[in-house]
Amino acid sequence: MEYLIGIDLGTSGAKIVLFSSRGKTVCSAMRSYSLYQPKNGWAEQAPEDWWNAVADGLSDVLSQSGVDASLIRGIGLSGQMHGLVLLDHLGCPLRRAIIWCDQRSQEECVQLEETLGQDRLLDITGNPALPGFTASKILWVQNHEPHLWEKCAHILLPKDYIRYQLTGELATDVSDASGMQLMELRKRAWSAEVLNVLQIEKGMLASMHESQELTGAVCKKAAARTGLKEGTPVVAGAGDNAAAAVGVGIVKPGQAFNTIGTSGVIYALMDDCSCDSKGRIHTLCASVPGKWTAMSCTQAAGLSLQWLRNTCCKDVLETAAEHEMDSYAYMDKMAEAVPPGAQNLIFLPYLMGERSPHPDPYCRGTFLGLAAFHTQAHLIRAVMEGVAYSQWECLDVFRELGVQVDSMAICGGGARSKLWRQMLCDMYGCPVYRTQAEEGPALGAALLAAVGVGLYSSLEEACGNVVAPAEVCHPDEKAHLAYEPYYKLYKNLYQSLKKDFFQLAKL
Ligand code: XUL
Repeated sequence: MEYLIGIDLGTSGAKIVLFSSRGKTVCSAMRSYSLYQPKNGWAEQAPEDWWNAVADGLSDVLSQSGVDASLIRGIGLSGQMHGLVLLDHLGCPLRRAIIWCDQRSQEECVQLEETLGQDRLLDITGNPALPGFTASKILWVQNHEPHLWEKCAHILLPKDYIRYQLTGELATDVSDASGMQLMELRKRAWSAEVLNVLQIEKGMLASMHESQELTGAVCKKAAARTGLKEGTPVVAGAGDNAAAAVGVGIVKPGQAFNTIGTSGVIYALMDDCSCDSKGRIHTLCASVPGKWTAMSCTQAAGLSLQWLRNTCCKDVLETAAEHEMDSYAYMDKMAEAVPPGAQNLIFLPYLMGERSPHPDPYCRGTFLGLAAFHTQAHLIRAVMEGVAYSQWECLDVFRELGVQVDSMAICGGGARSKLWRQMLCDMYGCPVYRTQAEEGPALGAALLAAVGVGLYSSLEEACGNVVAPAEVCHPDEKAHLAYEPYYKLYKNLYQSLKKDFFQLAKL
């Protein structure tokens, strides 16, 4: 028997999964790490924490499974996108990474658009300047921490820092690199024009690869730390959403999927590189060679429910533990008892500002209609619905742009909730299905490795052999109609509050 490993460097933790070469999960480990929020809207993580979590997780998986490391054919990497990792000339991190959901760099977005020109930036990189993307984070460091920038020798994305530790190579893949906003999107290559404006030397950036290409092999030091065999091939891999797409079998244009993880993402594969000129959804390179993707990102999807659980439902956590139930499964039961519309309670999920469809670092989470009549169960239901309305609003943009979505695969922690899946399905008005394997991004990364080392000739062949749909939800027209008036109000709310959000942020 031969094996593959998929590594997914998420926001709440790193998941390491050992798969058979046929894509069956053999053993997995999850190791968490801290998220630092030194200011409202800031978000950082320590690259050293990431590597320790991944290295420990790899050791766990190898020792628990008892699998001989020489039988592992390849390793694929997937990870949270857009994060800024700065290394000095010795390869040591210069500061904590500024991660995807950090919103500090709005002024740098204005600077970038003024210097390069708004239209030119959109034309080259496929997207308007966004605090979520890496380019404005780099400018922020240049503006606010010039003493660190002076020492910067290498700029990496989160999963590529793991690659550097595993192999010693400074490499990246097109899907993740396109979220840096430093690429000429159509050419799938670094843009000399953007690098010039940002005063970044090309040598500071990693070498660029398609997702399934080999980018080196496990080095001696990493082998000693993890138990992997020195020389095990490591493929380029993909940003977590592009990896998840492969893990749920979305490898052909016209297919789409939805993740409810920390963030909420809708991802549709496209033949061409067409962009939303209003910047409501992103255009990025796909992990499938020669394809692009339209992608929306709700900053706080699962994060909103996690926040509610941790701040307002401590007793629920305790009761769930007494019943030996998963806390989210328990919260689902509570929310199920509340009808659609949460009896006139609406939640806007802007806990970390927002990206899609409202690129706005200043907006914040809001409950509208809170009454003494409402209970914890209403809050839970309203948060789940608010996140779902946000996905619906994003899907409307896809549809407006002519991206046809007839059915939607779903993955991420939130997809475990039957209630949430059905809610999304009722709102979208199309079938929503899970796939048999739960490990979307890790499986996708492993399948990229499988193709890279020649176990399959293409991603289509790999997915055809490994990925199977399961648990299909069908839309309920009555529920759709029940959500509609609340959705209309939900959409009005951002427009009504936009100015107030800004004023509040400036107090
Ligand atoms: C996508 C995005 C998030 C992160 C975290 O643009 O920022 O989905 O990749 O998972």
